[in-house]
Amino acid sequence: NWSMADFIQQQIAVIREKVGDKKVLLGLSGGVDSSVVGVLLHEAIGDQLTSIFVDHGLLRKGEADQVMASLAGKFGLNIIKVDAQERFLSKLAGVSDPEQKRKIIGNEFIRVFDDESAKLDGIEFLAQGTLYTDVIESGTDTAQTIKSHHNVGGLPEDVQFQLIEPLRTLFKDEVRELGEKLGMPHELVWRQPFPGPGLGIRVIGEITEEKLQIVRDSDLILREEIANAGLEQEVWQYFTVLPGIRSVGVMGDGRTYDYTVGIRAVTSIDGMTADFAQLPWAVLQKISVRIVNEVAHVNRIVYDITSKPPSTIEWE
Ligand code: XMP
Repeated sequence: NWSMADFIQQQIAVIREKVGDKKVLLGLSGGVDSSVVGVLLHEAIGDQLTSIFVDHGLLRKGEADQVMASLAGKFGLNIIKVDAQERFLSKLAGVSDPEQKRKIIGNEFIRVFDDESAKLDGIEFLAQGTLYTDVIESGTDTAQTIKSHHNVGGLPEDVQFQLIEPLRTLFKDEVRELGEKLGMPHELVWRQPFPGPGLGIRVIGEITEEKLQIVRDSDLILREEIANAGLEQEVWQYFTVLPGIRSVGVMGDGRTYDYTVGIRAVTSIDGMTADFAQLPWAVLQKISVRIVNEVAHVNRIVYDITSKPPSTIEWE
Protein backbone atom coordinates (compact mmCIF):
# COMPACT_ATOMS: atom_id res chain seq x y z
CA ASN A 1 0.00 0.00 0.00
CA TRP A 2 2.89 2.27 -0.90
CA SER A 3 2.01 5.78 -1.96
CA MET A 4 4.10 8.80 -2.86
CA ALA A 5 2.27 10.90 -0.27
CA ASP A 6 3.28 8.43 2.46
CA PHE A 7 6.84 8.41 1.15
CA ILE A 8 7.04 12.19 1.43
CA GLN A 9 5.73 12.24 5.00
CA GLN A 10 8.04 9.42 5.99
CA GLN A 11 11.12 11.06 4.44
CA ILE A 12 10.32 14.41 6.03
CA ALA A 13 10.18 12.72 9.44
CA VAL A 14 13.44 10.85 8.83
CA ILE A 15 15.23 14.01 7.64
CA ARG A 16 14.02 16.07 10.60
CA GLU A 17 15.08 13.38 13.03
CA LYS A 18 18.51 13.04 11.47
CA VAL A 19 19.26 16.75 11.00
CA GLY A 20 17.85 18.13 14.22
CA ASP A 21 18.75 21.82 14.36
CA LYS A 22 21.90 21.43 12.24
CA LYS A 23 22.57 22.83 8.76
CA VAL A 24 22.52 21.05 5.42
CA LEU A 25 24.27 21.91 2.14
CA LEU A 26 23.07 20.91 -1.33
CA GLY A 27 24.71 21.27 -4.73
CA LEU A 28 22.08 22.16 -7.32
CA SER A 29 22.92 21.29 -10.92
CA GLY A 30 19.71 22.44 -12.56
CA GLY A 31 18.79 18.80 -13.17
CA VAL A 32 15.76 16.91 -11.94
CA ASP A 33 17.32 14.91 -9.10
CA SER A 34 19.06 17.66 -7.16
CA SER A 35 16.05 19.97 -7.66
CA VAL A 36 13.68 17.40 -6.17
CA VAL A 37 16.04 16.84 -3.23
CA GLY A 38 16.10 20.61 -2.70
CA VAL A 39 12.34 20.98 -2.60
CA LEU A 40 11.90 17.93 -0.36
CA LEU A 41 14.55 19.12 2.10
CA HIS A 42 13.16 22.62 2.14
CA GLU A 43 9.78 21.13 2.99
CA ALA A 44 11.40 19.23 5.86
CA ILE A 45 13.86 21.71 7.36
CA GLY A 46 13.22 25.08 5.67
CA ASP A 47 16.07 27.54 6.05
CA GLN A 48 18.42 25.01 7.63
CA LEU A 49 19.09 24.11 4.01
CA THR A 50 21.53 26.16 1.93
CA SER A 51 21.97 25.33 -1.75
CA ILE A 52 24.80 26.22 -4.07
CA PHE A 53 23.99 26.52 -7.76
CA VAL A 54 27.05 26.77 -9.97
CA ASP A 55 26.24 28.40 -13.30
CA HIS A 56 29.11 27.23 -15.50
CA GLY A 57 27.72 29.03 -18.54
CA LEU A 58 27.11 25.71 -20.30
CA LEU A 59 23.42 25.44 -19.53
CA ARG A 60 20.67 25.80 -22.11
CA LYS A 61 19.17 29.17 -22.83
CA GLY A 62 17.06 30.42 -19.95
CA GLU A 63 17.77 27.36 -17.82
CA ALA A 64 19.61 29.05 -14.95
CA ASP A 65 16.90 31.72 -14.70
CA GLN A 66 14.21 29.06 -14.78
CA VAL A 67 15.83 27.13 -11.93
CA MET A 68 16.22 30.29 -9.86
CA ALA A 69 12.69 31.51 -10.57
CA SER A 70 11.21 28.18 -9.62
CA LEU A 71 13.34 26.96 -6.72
CA ALA A 72 14.35 30.28 -5.13
CA GLY A 73 11.27 32.19 -6.27
CA LYS A 74 8.30 29.87 -6.01
CA PHE A 75 9.63 27.40 -3.46
CA GLY A 76 11.67 29.85 -1.41
CA LEU A 77 14.91 27.88 -1.26
CA ASN A 78 17.95 29.74 -0.02
CA ILE A 79 20.24 29.45 -3.07
CA ILE A 80 23.71 30.86 -3.52
CA LYS A 81 24.08 31.26 -7.28
CA VAL A 82 27.67 31.36 -8.43
CA ASP A 83 28.24 32.97 -11.81
CA ALA A 84 31.31 31.05 -12.86
CA GLN A 85 31.01 31.37 -16.64
CA GLU A 86 34.30 33.18 -17.09
CA ARG A 87 36.14 30.84 -14.78
CA PHE A 88 35.02 27.83 -16.82
CA LEU A 89 35.59 29.47 -20.21
CA SER A 90 39.13 30.49 -19.36
CA LYS A 91 39.96 26.99 -18.09
CA LEU A 92 38.54 25.55 -21.33
CA ALA A 93 40.28 27.96 -23.68
CA GLY A 94 42.33 26.18 -26.30
CA VAL A 95 41.14 22.71 -25.25
CA SER A 96 39.50 20.59 -27.95
CA ASP A 97 39.72 16.99 -26.73
CA PRO A 98 36.29 15.78 -25.50
CA GLU A 99 37.51 13.82 -22.48
CA GLN A 100 39.85 16.63 -21.51
CA LYS A 101 36.92 19.05 -21.67
CA ARG A 102 34.81 16.75 -19.48
CA LYS A 103 37.61 16.47 -16.95
CA ILE A 104 38.16 20.22 -16.79
CA ILE A 105 34.44 20.93 -16.37
CA GLY A 106 34.10 18.26 -13.65
CA ASN A 107 37.18 19.44 -11.74
CA GLU A 108 36.28 23.11 -11.99
CA PHE A 109 32.84 22.28 -10.66
CA ILE A 110 34.40 20.72 -7.59
CA ARG A 111 36.66 23.73 -7.08
CA VAL A 112 33.89 26.29 -7.34
CA PHE A 113 31.66 24.27 -5.03
CA ASP A 114 34.54 23.86 -2.61
CA ASP A 115 35.36 27.59 -2.61
CA GLU A 116 31.75 28.52 -1.95
CA SER A 117 31.05 25.92 0.73
CA ALA A 118 34.25 26.96 2.55
CA LYS A 119 32.61 30.36 3.10
CA LEU A 120 29.73 28.78 4.99
CA ASP A 121 29.78 28.09 8.71
CA GLY A 122 28.46 25.18 10.70
CA ILE A 123 27.36 22.87 7.91
CA GLU A 124 27.23 19.25 9.10
CA PHE A 125 25.30 17.53 6.35
CA LEU A 126 25.61 17.27 2.61
CA ALA A 127 22.50 16.32 0.59
CA GLN A 128 22.76 14.44 -2.69
CA GLY A 129 20.37 13.25 -5.38
CA THR A 130 21.69 9.69 -5.47
CA LEU A 131 19.17 7.32 -7.09
CA TYR A 132 18.67 3.60 -6.61
CA THR A 133 20.36 2.95 -9.96
CA ASP A 134 23.45 4.80 -8.71
CA VAL A 135 23.47 2.70 -5.55
CA ILE A 136 23.37 -0.50 -7.62
CA GLU A 137 25.99 0.71 -10.09
CA SER A 138 28.42 1.76 -7.41
CA GLY A 139 28.08 -1.75 -6.02
CA THR A 140 28.16 -0.66 -2.41
CA ASP A 141 25.50 0.09 0.07
CA THR A 142 27.35 2.28 2.49
CA ALA A 143 26.03 5.78 3.02
CA GLN A 144 29.59 7.08 2.81
CA THR A 145 29.92 6.55 -0.92
CA ILE A 146 30.42 9.86 -2.66
CA LYS A 147 28.89 9.89 -6.09
CA SER A 148 31.19 11.50 -8.60
CA HIS A 149 28.63 11.84 -11.40
CA HIS A 150 28.72 15.26 -13.05
CA ASN A 151 24.98 15.73 -12.73
CA VAL A 152 25.09 15.87 -8.95
CA GLY A 153 27.53 18.69 -9.02
CA GLY A 154 31.08 18.43 -7.89
CA LEU A 155 31.93 17.48 -4.37
CA PRO A 156 35.03 18.21 -2.36
CA GLU A 157 37.24 15.16 -2.12
CA ASP A 158 38.08 15.61 1.55
CA VAL A 159 34.45 15.86 2.42
CA GLN A 160 33.75 15.58 6.12
CA PHE A 161 30.00 16.01 6.01
CA GLN A 162 27.45 13.34 6.75
CA LEU A 163 25.40 12.45 3.70
CA ILE A 164 21.65 12.79 3.23
CA GLU A 165 20.33 10.91 0.21
CA PRO A 166 16.54 10.83 0.29
CA LEU A 167 16.19 9.41 -3.26
CA ARG A 168 18.35 6.33 -2.60
CA THR A 169 15.42 3.93 -2.93
CA LEU A 170 13.84 5.53 -5.99
CA PHE A 171 14.04 5.07 -9.75
CA LYS A 172 14.04 8.04 -12.10
CA ASP A 173 10.33 7.85 -12.92
CA GLU A 174 9.54 7.75 -9.19
CA VAL A 175 11.67 10.85 -8.64
CA ARG A 176 9.61 12.60 -11.31
CA GLU A 177 6.40 11.48 -9.61
CA LEU A 178 7.77 12.73 -6.30
CA GLY A 179 8.61 16.09 -7.88
CA GLU A 180 5.10 16.46 -9.24
CA LYS A 181 3.61 15.51 -5.88
CA LEU A 182 5.71 18.25 -4.30
CA GLY A 183 4.13 20.72 -6.73
CA MET A 184 7.15 21.23 -8.96
CA PRO A 185 6.49 22.47 -12.51
CA HIS A 186 5.96 19.83 -15.17
CA GLU A 187 8.65 21.20 -17.48
CA LEU A 188 11.27 21.02 -14.75
CA VAL A 189 10.34 17.51 -13.66
CA TRP A 190 10.00 16.02 -17.17
CA ARG A 191 13.15 17.51 -18.69
CA GLN A 192 14.87 15.49 -21.37
CA PRO A 193 18.25 14.13 -20.23
CA PHE A 194 21.00 16.75 -20.23
CA PRO A 195 24.67 15.88 -19.80
CA GLY A 196 26.66 17.27 -16.84
CA PRO A 197 29.23 18.96 -19.14
CA GLY A 198 26.26 20.64 -20.81
CA LEU A 199 26.71 22.58 -24.01
CA GLY A 200 30.45 22.18 -23.52
CA ILE A 201 30.30 18.89 -25.43
CA ARG A 202 27.90 20.26 -28.06
CA VAL A 203 30.37 22.83 -29.26
CA ILE A 204 32.68 20.38 -30.99
CA GLY A 205 36.33 21.10 -30.33
CA GLU A 206 37.39 24.36 -28.74
CA ILE A 207 34.70 26.24 -26.84
CA THR A 208 34.25 29.97 -27.34
CA GLU A 209 31.47 32.25 -26.15
CA GLU A 210 30.46 32.94 -29.76
CA LYS A 211 30.08 29.23 -30.48
CA LEU A 212 28.20 28.64 -27.24
CA GLN A 213 25.76 31.32 -28.21
CA ILE A 214 25.09 29.67 -31.57
CA VAL A 215 24.38 26.35 -29.85
CA ARG A 216 22.22 28.00 -27.18
CA ASP A 217 20.13 29.98 -29.66
CA SER A 218 19.71 27.16 -32.19
CA ASP A 219 18.88 24.69 -29.42
CA LEU A 220 16.11 26.96 -28.18
CA ILE A 221 14.59 27.16 -31.67
CA LEU A 222 14.74 23.37 -31.99
CA ARG A 223 13.03 22.93 -28.61
CA GLU A 224 10.33 25.45 -29.51
CA GLU A 225 9.54 23.75 -32.81
CA ILE A 226 9.52 20.24 -31.31
CA ALA A 227 7.05 21.57 -28.75
CA ASN A 228 4.96 23.33 -31.41
CA ALA A 229 4.74 20.07 -33.33
CA GLY A 230 3.66 18.23 -30.16
CA LEU A 231 6.62 15.86 -30.41
CA GLU A 232 8.15 16.34 -26.95
CA GLN A 233 7.04 12.93 -25.72
CA GLU A 234 7.90 11.09 -28.97
CA VAL A 235 11.53 12.14 -29.09
CA TRP A 236 13.76 11.04 -26.21
CA GLN A 237 16.49 13.63 -26.60
CA TYR A 238 17.00 16.45 -29.09
CA PHE A 239 19.58 19.19 -29.38
CA THR A 240 21.82 21.06 -31.78
CA VAL A 241 25.58 20.75 -32.16
CA LEU A 242 28.17 23.02 -33.70
CA PRO A 243 30.80 20.98 -35.55
CA GLY A 244 32.92 24.07 -36.14
CA ILE A 245 33.16 23.73 -39.90
CA ARG A 246 32.27 26.64 -42.11
CA SER A 247 30.96 26.50 -45.65
CA VAL A 248 29.96 28.81 -48.44
CA GLY A 249 26.41 30.09 -48.78
CA VAL A 250 24.55 32.90 -50.43
CA MET A 251 22.28 35.32 -48.64
CA GLY A 252 20.76 38.40 -50.23
CA ASP A 253 23.33 39.64 -52.74
CA GLY A 254 26.28 38.29 -50.91
CA ARG A 255 28.34 35.22 -50.47
CA THR A 256 28.59 33.98 -46.90
CA TYR A 257 31.16 31.80 -45.24
CA ASP A 258 29.54 30.65 -42.00
CA TYR A 259 28.94 27.79 -39.61
CA THR A 260 26.98 24.58 -40.08
CA VAL A 261 24.61 23.54 -37.28
CA GLY A 262 23.79 19.86 -36.77
CA ILE A 263 20.44 18.68 -35.46
CA ARG A 264 20.39 15.54 -33.33
CA ALA A 265 17.08 13.94 -32.32
CA VAL A 266 16.78 10.35 -31.12
CA THR A 267 14.30 7.85 -29.81
CA SER A 268 15.53 5.59 -27.02
CA ILE A 269 14.53 3.75 -23.87
CA ASP A 270 17.56 4.36 -21.70
CA GLY A 271 20.18 6.06 -23.86
CA MET A 272 22.22 2.87 -24.19
CA THR A 273 21.00 2.38 -27.74
CA ALA A 274 19.10 4.88 -29.86
CA ASP A 275 17.59 5.43 -33.29
CA PHE A 276 17.56 8.74 -35.07
CA ALA A 277 14.06 10.19 -34.79
CA GLN A 278 12.12 10.28 -38.07
CA LEU A 279 10.99 13.88 -37.66
CA PRO A 280 8.52 15.09 -40.28
CA TRP A 281 10.18 16.99 -43.17
CA ALA A 282 7.92 19.97 -42.54
CA VAL A 283 9.13 20.26 -38.94
CA LEU A 284 12.77 19.95 -40.01
CA GLN A 285 12.21 22.56 -42.70
CA LYS A 286 10.74 25.01 -40.21
CA ILE A 287 13.63 24.47 -37.80
CA SER A 288 16.17 24.90 -40.59
CA VAL A 289 14.65 28.12 -41.89
CA ARG A 290 14.33 29.60 -38.42
CA ILE A 291 17.88 28.80 -37.33
CA VAL A 292 19.46 30.22 -40.48
CA ASN A 293 17.30 33.34 -40.30
CA GLU A 294 17.50 33.96 -36.57
CA VAL A 295 20.95 32.82 -35.51
CA ALA A 296 23.87 34.91 -36.73
CA HIS A 297 26.80 33.19 -38.47
CA VAL A 298 24.87 30.08 -39.50
CA ASN A 299 24.20 29.34 -43.17
CA ARG A 300 23.68 25.57 -43.30
CA ILE A 301 21.76 22.92 -41.33
CA VAL A 302 22.36 19.15 -41.41
CA TYR A 303 20.34 16.35 -39.82
CA ASP A 304 22.15 13.49 -38.11
CA ILE A 305 20.71 10.22 -39.46
CA THR A 306 22.89 7.74 -37.59
CA SER A 307 21.75 5.46 -34.80
CA LYS A 308 23.58 4.33 -31.66
CA PRO A 309 25.53 2.15 -32.22
CA PRO A 310 27.62 2.86 -34.25
CA SER A 311 27.33 6.56 -33.35
CA THR A 312 26.76 7.93 -29.88
CA ILE A 313 23.91 10.28 -29.07
CA GLU A 314 26.18 13.21 -28.30
CA TRP A 315 28.83 14.14 -30.87
CA GLU A 316 31.57 14.20 -28.26
P1 XMP B 1 26.09 9.03 -25.57
O1 XMP B 1 26.59 10.26 -26.28
O2 XMP B 1 27.17 8.35 -24.77
O3 XMP B 1 25.04 9.57 -24.50
O4 XMP B 1 25.36 8.09 -26.48
C1 XMP B 1 24.17 8.74 -23.76
C2 XMP B 1 23.44 9.63 -22.77
O5 XMP B 1 24.37 10.12 -21.78
C3 XMP B 1 24.43 11.53 -21.81
N1 XMP B 1 25.83 11.91 -21.63
C4 XMP B 1 26.35 12.38 -20.48
N2 XMP B 1 25.77 12.63 -19.29
N3 XMP B 1 27.86 13.37 -18.45
C5 XMP B 1 26.54 13.14 -18.28
O6 XMP B 1 26.02 13.41 -17.20
C6 XMP B 1 28.52 13.14 -19.62
O7 XMP B 1 29.71 13.36 -19.73
C7 XMP B 1 27.70 12.61 -20.68
N4 XMP B 1 27.99 12.25 -21.96
C8 XMP B 1 26.82 11.83 -22.51
C9 XMP B 1 23.85 11.94 -23.17
O8 XMP B 1 23.30 13.26 -23.12
C10 XMP B 1 22.83 10.87 -23.41
O9 XMP B 1 21.61 11.16 -22.73
